[in-house]
Amino acid sequence: MSIINLELKKVVDDSYDIEIGRHLEDTMIQDIKSGLVGKIRRFAVITDSIVNDLYAEPICEKLRQEGYTVSSFVIPEGEKSKTREVKACIEDAMLEAGFRRDCCVINVGGGVVSDLGGFLAGTYGRGVPFLNYSTTLLSAADASVGGKTAVDTKLATNLIGLFNQPKKVYIDLATWETLDKRQLSSGMAETIKHACLGDFEMFEYLESHMEDILSGDAASCEYIAEKNCSIKYKVVMKDERESGLREILNLGHTVGRAIETVSDYRLLHGEALAIGMAAEVRLATKFGTMTQDEADRVIALYEKAGLSTAIPSYIDREELVKKLYTDKKVRDGHLRFVLQKGIGAIDEHVPGEYARPVAEEDAREIIMEMP
Ligand code: GLY
Repeated sequence: MSIINLELKKVVDDSYDIEIGRHLEDTMIQDIKSGLVGKIRRFAVITDSIVNDLYAEPICEKLRQEGYTVSSFVIPEGEKSKTREVKACIEDAMLEAGFRRDCCVINVGGGVVSDLGGFLAGTYGRGVPFLNYSTTLLSAADASVGGKTAVDTKLATNLIGLFNQPKKVYIDLATWETLDKRQLSSGMAETIKHACLGDFEMFEYLESHMEDILSGDAASCEYIAEKNCSIKYKVVMKDERESGLREILNLGHTVGRAIETVSDYRLLHGEALAIGMAAEVRLATKFGTMTQDEADRVIALYEKAGLSTAIPSYIDREELVKKLYTDKKVRDGHLRFVLQKGIGAIDEHVPGEYARPVAEEDAREIIMEMP
């Protein structure tokens, strides 16, 4: 018998840029020409049925004009496309189209596209590089940055996936002009969450500029895009793989994700998160980490963004309580919630622990008493 130690210590540099601007298509193509993804000349553009005509096709065309080989893979718009089955369909189509390891994936769209496409890039040919070209406020605020990629299953959202960082993220603020009111409001949910967990000044800004943001005022949109990124990347840089601190980005998501699944995706992610945040602030008030006034202020800001914080009548509240156990923060079978400490900070309930155990009765009581 012998033991051979296969030493595989790794030093990884996954650093990347997030560029925020308007009409960044040419910038991305210039980056590719300058070697952003090495010598790759073959691109798989993953997009959805709404974004394809608006932004993905023009990007494909520009790439073709530069002599690159490009195919686009278009999925139906919406969270219901974020599945293993849709991922497999794209993979088969890419294999059929001759894509091998010498390709790069470009995700053009919102969070569904970047979550699915980033996961696919991480497993295709055992891993190919990818870029995120974000076309929604929701993905600009959250999904396109930080390298969490995943698909949903029948049981819950995002349970199967990878930490896989893009080579660069492009946040095109001009694309927000084509979002409908519902999509814009949904995107505000993650933005308000960031203010709640890390920046009181940003919270006050949102209180006084909500109308400007929702009507597309350029300066306000730039402000929130930069704030969202800076709050998020500071957390991700410290704890990429969510061994502790990154759990704070999950604020409001314990109930939010559960209600999104129980609604069978009738609720958009941000709409579900707004309800999750309303549950979280009630719980925080109960545990004494927030005052009633602060909780009311958070709920009022969500309502101001055009988001309802009431649980829809079609939701079975007992089913919702059960669904809480699919949350990735569950530890040893116990629910754990991230709670705010006032507005702009998170309760570190013991040093290094940002999610606290919550008894099912306490979570149920809040869910049952919510409007
Ligand atoms: N969406 C939460 C995170 O990226 O950690």
